[in-house]
Amino acid sequence: MMKNWMSLGTAFAAVLPVAALAEIVLVPRPVKLVEKGGFAPEKVAIREVEDASIPAEGYRLSVAADGVTITASGAAGKFYARQTLKQLTSDKKIPCVEIEDAPAYSWRGVHMDDCRHFFGKETVKQVMDLMAQHKLNRFHWHLTEDQGWRIEIPGYPELVRYGAARSASVRHGVKASKGTKEDADKLNGIQYGPFYYTEKDIREIIAYAAERQITIVPEIELPGHVFAALAAYPEFACVPENLASREPRLVWGIEKDVLCLGNDKAIKFMEDVLDYVCKLFPGDVVHIGGDECPQVRWKTCPKCQARIQAEGLKDEHGLQPWITRHFVKFLEARGKRALGWDEYLLGDVPKSAIGMSWREGRSGAGHEHISGAKAAISGHDVVMTPCSYCYLDYRQGLKNDPFFYIGGNVTLERCYSLNPCANVPPEARKHILGAQGNNWSEYTWNEYDLAWKMWPRTCALAEVLWLGDAKPQFSDFKARMKTHRLRLLGQGVNCAPLE
Ligand code: ACM
Ligand code: ZN
Repeated sequence: MMKNWMSLGTAFAAVLPVAALAEIVLVPRPVKLVEKGGFAPEKVAIREVEDASIPAEGYRLSVAADGVTITASGAAGKFYARQTLKQLTSDKKIPCVEIEDAPAYSWRGVHMDDCRHFFGKETVKQVMDLMAQHKLNRFHWHLTEDQGWRIEIPGYPELVRYGAARSASVRHGVKASKGTKEDADKLNGIQYGPFYYTEKDIREIIAYAAERQITIVPEIELPGHVFAALAAYPEFACVPENLASREPRLVWGIEKDVLCLGNDKAIKFMEDVLDYVCKLFPGDVVHIGGDECPQVRWKTCPKCQARIQAEGLKDEHGLQPWITRHFVKFLEARGKRALGWDEYLLGDVPKSAIGMSWREGRSGAGHEHISGAKAAISGHDVVMTPCSYCYLDYRQGLKNDPFFYIGGNVTLERCYSLNPCANVPPEARKHILGAQGNNWSEYTWNEYDLAWKMWPRTCALAEVLWLGDAKPQFSDFKARMKTHRLRLLGQGVNCAPLE
């Protein structure tokens, strides 16, 4: 009879021989596993069986000395069974087991900011390889920002001409986010870029993701975080003169120059970008940003004020919900769902809009805070990414850490303690799609820096999302991670220690 690992609790370790435990190190741990004793050779025959009753990403895996059987209802389940099989295999043999497995959450994501620093195609593929090993299925690709525009768009050549390069970046190891005189002294004077993805690059990455059961969620930020686009097309800003240097923002932080929502041409520009993105990316969701958008330019812009009048909006607070409503509908007409950072849910926004909950209090250009739980209760689907659990650009609590961080403290244990449904009443839990780790890159310079910050913390998030309420104690996870980390190091991944 199948035994549930979880229900065995601590008794599990007592009843199984230590040697047997040492053989099986799976991350994420499967929901149910029974050891049968003995081994199959690595090159054993694998049989695949269809069973429509198994959930979409679930599978059964039976390893016997004379053959492996994978049972699933579709490609994702079969793929995950093979990932488990790879982790089971060591010293050219596979322990005989019966596994029954399926994820707790459907959204198991990794976000990557390719704008502040640009990582490129090969790093994106490495990230996807590692996502697949950990049964992560959503790649949230942050492609546009104040500091860089990274996707070529037909008909808008200036976007990559001006938006994909900058004349300097903040020097390594110092912080600068305000654009003051002191911040200007912290710039390195080194040309950065042009760096961007062509349509050919993106098609290659989409195919790579599909082979790994990963759906890409492209993000085009609006109406804030658009300074790189405004550098290319200053006429889409409320105050075009502020873009006289024609280059992206050089320091980090919140930028006051945002899209002029009174300008029909600026809105048509975003429609053209999103129309192209909808056609290019096959996934069901497009992220339209929405975070940290100051309203100060809108307050004094005649065009924005005229829009407020024409649309019967009370004041500039009404402009962001107005543009959100517009693009939620625009995307729906193209068969996509809109996703955005939690600020974009403020105001009268359709319930079909998915929220990405990152703030745990009021922050981000002073906008009111709407928690993930509150958004779910009100009927929005939500992806949880609370910064004190999921922001992997925050410090990870290592004693002697050679890498530089934006701040904070998100230890491995903290990641593992994430409960995406915290404070969500049972009737609203269906709205919590899952969660993801966010890899912002202001202070993350290259693939080694990125890997150090992602791993092992992404293993913790992957297990939280796979097992949900059935996750074991942190000590159980950490014990497995001792072996699993060596696996990652063996693949050349710059995985941080488990301290
Ligand atoms: C965010 O961290 N500004 C979404
Ligand atoms: Zn304006």
